Amino acid sequence: MEERVTNAPDTDRSPDASSFSSVTPYYDSLMSSVPYQMWVGYYLLLLSQQDVHPKTILDVCCGTGTMCEMLQEEGFEMTGLDLSPGMIAEAKRKAIAKDSPIDYWCMDASAFELNRRFDAALSFYDSLNNITQPHRLQMALKRVAEHLQPGGSFIFDLNTAFAFEQHMFDQQSLKPEAPLRYKWVGDWDPATRLITVHMKFWHMGQEFEETHVQRAYDEETVREMLKIAGFENIEAYHSYTLDPPRNKSDRIHYAALRAS
Ligand SMILES: C[S@@+](CC[C@H](N)C(=O)[O-])C[C@H]1O[C@@H](n2cnc3c(N)ncnc32)[C@H](O)[C@@H]1O
Repeated sequence: MEERVTNAPDTDRSPDASSFSSVTPYYDSLMSSVPYQMWVGYYLLLLSQQDVHPKTILDVCCGTGTMCEMLQEEGFEMTGLDLSPGMIAEAKRKAIAKDSPIDYWCMDASAFELNRRFDAALSFYDSLNNITQPHRLQMALKRVAEHLQPGGSFIFDLNTAFAFEQHMFDQQSLKPEAPLRYKWVGDWDPATRLITVHMKFWHMGQEFEETHVQRAYDEETVREMLKIAGFENIEAYHSYTLDPPRNKSDRIHYAALRAS
């Protein structure tokens, strides 16, 4: 095992709510090629594998609410939370425009309290990798468990260290005619298991920057953290399949049930 989370020296730091800020107005157009509809289909497949049939679902780190909207259209009652005020503002703006009855909350996944329980929760698009302190990820898993009914489902994905080694974040779109140009470079440190992604954007003659930091959590650690948080029936998949993770999985989907 590459790390023992429970023994890791881990000084508490507040999460950086500013890490998804300047990019917020452009987030949906940057993600226009992301196959969210396929992700919804995969999510429904994993729920059926768990034999869980939710009515209410919580999206943890919901961003601008795209998954919430799509799942709400599938007939689920959706609630989303995210740390970034800009992402939540955009999600709310879209919900009002579409007259979608989705509840959105600006909250830290590691410390939220909604005073209710859901039948299921999800967190997609490597959102939980952004919680870089292991004890804070452990807190987030506990918060999710405490917001689920006994037997409730939690399904989420995480980027792997392999993805970071393969420079997954090194991306650019610099065509002069593109309305938004960008260049991202990831700086992976295998010693800390952190990747720091330096992002530069150019839009209408203006330049802005963001820095995102993600941590790679290995499968054994995640399984242990899920158990500590009160989950059971833990499954891990090579993303978008029902196969187990491979050495070269760049993303792993986890599916677990809140212990009864
Ligand atoms: C890559 S985006 C994914 C958003 C959304 N899940 C999607 O699929 O489009 C990651 C999101 O995680 C959020 N996030 C990061 N750390 C968080 C935390 N501690 N609590 C809640 N949200 C967090 C960010 O604000 C951002 O919206």
